[in-house]
Amino acid sequence: MESKHSLLVILVLWLEVEGAPPKVCFPQHFMFGVATAAYQIEGAWNVSGKGESIWDRYTHRHPERIFDHSSGDVAADSYHQLREDVRLLVELGVQHYRFSISWPRILPMGLSNDINEDGIRYYSELIDELRAHRIEPTVTMYHWDLPQSLQDLGGWTNPIIADYFLDYARVLFDHFGDRVKVWFTFNEPLSFCHDGYGGLDAPGANSSGFEAYLCGHNVLRAHGYTYRLYQQSYRHHQQGVVGIALDFAWLEPATTSEGDQRAAETARQFRFGWFAHPIFSSEGDYPPIMRVRIDEISKRQHFPRSRLPTFTPEEVALIRGSSDFMGLNHYTTYLIAQGDGKIYPQPSFNTDMGVVTTQKQEWPKSNSTWLRVVPWGFRRALNYIKQKYNNPPVFVTENGISLERSNRDVRRVGYMASYLSAMYAAMSDGCDVRGYTYWSLIDNFEWRRGFSERFGLYDVDYSSASRKRTPRMSANYFSKLARTRCLPDSWN
Ligand code: NOJ
Repeated sequence: MESKHSLLVILVLWLEVEGAPPKVCFPQHFMFGVATAAYQIEGAWNVSGKGESIWDRYTHRHPERIFDHSSGDVAADSYHQLREDVRLLVELGVQHYRFSISWPRILPMGLSNDINEDGIRYYSELIDELRAHRIEPTVTMYHWDLPQSLQDLGGWTNPIIADYFLDYARVLFDHFGDRVKVWFTFNEPLSFCHDGYGGLDAPGANSSGFEAYLCGHNVLRAHGYTYRLYQQSYRHHQQGVVGIALDFAWLEPATTSEGDQRAAETARQFRFGWFAHPIFSSEGDYPPIMRVRIDEISKRQHFPRSRLPTFTPEEVALIRGSSDFMGLNHYTTYLIAQGDGKIYPQPSFNTDMGVVTTQKQEWPKSNSTWLRVVPWGFRRALNYIKQKYNNPPVFVTENGISLERSNRDVRRVGYMASYLSAMYAAMSDGCDVRGYTYWSLIDNFEWRRGFSERFGLYDVDYSSASRKRTPRMSANYFSKLARTRCLPDSWN
């Protein structure tokens, strides 16, 4: 018995050293897919009754704020290339496609008294085409393109918007809910509140530590209402799920010092807990550390009340548990060190958070300044979610890398292979990950970076009238992955 056992051990060791490495395969029902967003790919900004969005207005009025002075007016022309996009998805063999619906294409003025029939037709055709090819549509309701008419009322800083979003959501459930079974209310509220209302993304309010918090507050309320609406009036007959896609870069303490450890946790609570805690924690509401710090700093800045609004007890209850799963956008990792504790009169999210954020120079770069390749951070982020929020089902809604234009994108394949291995390791740690979505299917309009950053599995030729798509090496790799659910042995 003893010797049989040692023989087995030797055999396993020998296989590990000499033989093929063990295959990394994901569970049978694991879903592989790719993502896009309306403004970034559709174009047709003023076609067939579509209303103006804040990104239309912003890129037209402030081309100087966009790196290459471009706009999403045409982008990858997906409005006219719907069938071509689905053909690529079929070629990839993916199980799902995550796309977003443009609010002003459905409701030109943002309000549900006037529904644009062409908008309904366009998304209906897309959904039907996907389903005809057995590709599950997973749909984001809001990926940053707010109707300009609602921005004129203050956009996400005006509490009334939660009602208008709910009206919009009702239109979507009514028209598409028979065929769409996976909904995300919002994409990356941290990004569009922090960078849009707190910075220079559209609408460019640049009001950090103030409007950014008003935005977050109303987004959370709108999300809670929408989730409850679906539960009460749609879930029974439509049988779908509703969640939210949150962005979470892993935040690692810069050193082992107690101060840096504490700073890293504070940063996680500000950058992720801001939205995750009210929805996914068992207590609900904002993270206590955010409440304490912003209340205190507001007081010292002579504000009569905290710049972080307060939920009513009813709102806390409405929002707590308002997600059937967690959508996770993850790309990179930062190092966090303790800040100098200085408080300035001007409100600022960074002062409120009070940390110093860096990245290691030796971490491999991408073509985006903020994105370095740190696969182990993905495993840590997933484990953190498991530990903090009682291991919710996680659907990775975005992960990807921008590179110089080339179809031999070896480094993109390397990025995917390493991040997928890290995700697999997290699943072996017990994290409940149900799906993975690569950002993005095709090159697209990267917000203030214009067309200068390319994340696509398919190259888009912006100089051709049809915005010709060409598969990269990574498309081939991803299609092997999606078809077999195992990490491919070879990269091309
Ligand atoms: C986050 C956003 O959801 C998406 O719109 C963006 O293009 C990618 N990440 C890459 O930055």
